[in-house]
Amino acid sequence: MMELTKEQQAILDGEKGEVLAKVMKTLIRYGELFGATKMVPVTGAHNHLVTSFGLKALGPVYELMNQLIESGAVSQQTFSVDPRPLDKNVPSGFLADFVFKNFMYSRQDFYEEQLNKLGLMDKNAFSCTCYMDEMGNKPQKGDVLSWAESSAVVYANSVLGARCNRNSGIMDIFGSVAGYVPYFGLLTDEGRKASWIVEVRTTKKPEAQLLGSAIGMKVMEAVPYIRGLDKWLGNTLDDAACTYLKDMGAATASNGAVGLYHVDNLTPEALESGESLIADGAQVYVIDDAELQRVYDSYPVIWKNPDATPKLCFMGCPHMSLEQLKSWTDRVETALKEAGNKKVVIPTVFTAAPAVLEAFEKTPYAARLKATGVITSYICPLMYMNNPIAGKMPVITSSNKLRTYTTARYYTDDEILDQITRGGK
Ligand code: F3S
Repeated sequence: MMELTKEQQAILDGEKGEVLAKVMKTLIRYGELFGATKMVPVTGAHNHLVTSFGLKALGPVYELMNQLIESGAVSQQTFSVDPRPLDKNVPSGFLADFVFKNFMYSRQDFYEEQLNKLGLMDKNAFSCTCYMDEMGNKPQKGDVLSWAESSAVVYANSVLGARCNRNSGIMDIFGSVAGYVPYFGLLTDEGRKASWIVEVRTTKKPEAQLLGSAIGMKVMEAVPYIRGLDKWLGNTLDDAACTYLKDMGAATASNGAVGLYHVDNLTPEALESGESLIADGAQVYVIDDAELQRVYDSYPVIWKNPDATPKLCFMGCPHMSLEQLKSWTDRVETALKEAGNKKVVIPTVFTAAPAVLEAFEKTPYAARLKATGVITSYICPLMYMNNPIAGKMPVITSSNKLRTYTTARYYTDDEILDQITRGGK
């Protein structure tokens, strides 16, 4: 049975209104399912919500949001939200556009109005990488969160040392509105112990998205303690290491269901507690070059014509960091020069948070990237690919999350570079 504080009991008893009482009841039931015995306060000034898109079919969500707004059951926190689904900068045909606007995201404007009323941080607060410095929603170590975006949850837990379960959409809003979440799983010290040891024994720096995929598919929802990665990433969480861990983590969370990983000598809890984070009887998974190759070779190609020429390339799922945009500008320029081409030969979109794109625009890199023909956008590539017309296109990506949920075909970063600058020839 859940033990409630006086204040929590009062909310449940309806002292703050009927709607909030229902919200509290739902959170308590959710916690009881997972064996939680108490509710703990959500901390930090901001929350992050996963549902960013005004999909026509989401009627019950709009109704629920309305009830929250009308009853005044809004959160004490403001929030960021996952990326917008549409951007006119991203190429799409007439038919795809028609489907986007009339059948898919026709309620986007209405939904954004609801988000505003509920406490959206600002009009630019749309990105899955809300934890980037430029976005202003970076939790502190030890913060208790009510997030649901899987790539952000795993980053917040692992790289920032915050505490958050892999919640679902709507439960994220509920936790924030009530101000409490049930205490279980990754919120507890015990739940943050590793039941897998991953030994990285590759001869070169492993591709972040491949390594994450291998780990996710092996450990599923368990917590892995990763040894041997500090050899390639160093012992400091600098921009490059954080970017790597962002991409690796998103792959662990989508190809498996990882909500937290520890990297020996690098991530905050591993630095603090070291191998005492490893639970008794932990299993071991060794990842060498051959294992990464095996994982890569196991991905199915689900294009209608596997030999089709790619029509679009998406990079930035999760959204790219500023350092990633800069380093990719250098890489694309150099590769184009080597290939004797002036512009990318496949329409290519780099996606990043609006505030990261704004910061990028202030650097000399922005004009250089534009000159290569690469388009930048704030959208979520997955939302784009969910359009049945767009989903039929041969799209390439180095995102293992996008590969998992759509028909997009995965290539390593080097292969992507080759494809977009010389057509893979
Ligand atoms: Fe972000 Fe959309 Fe990918 S939310 S992680 S860009 S699927």
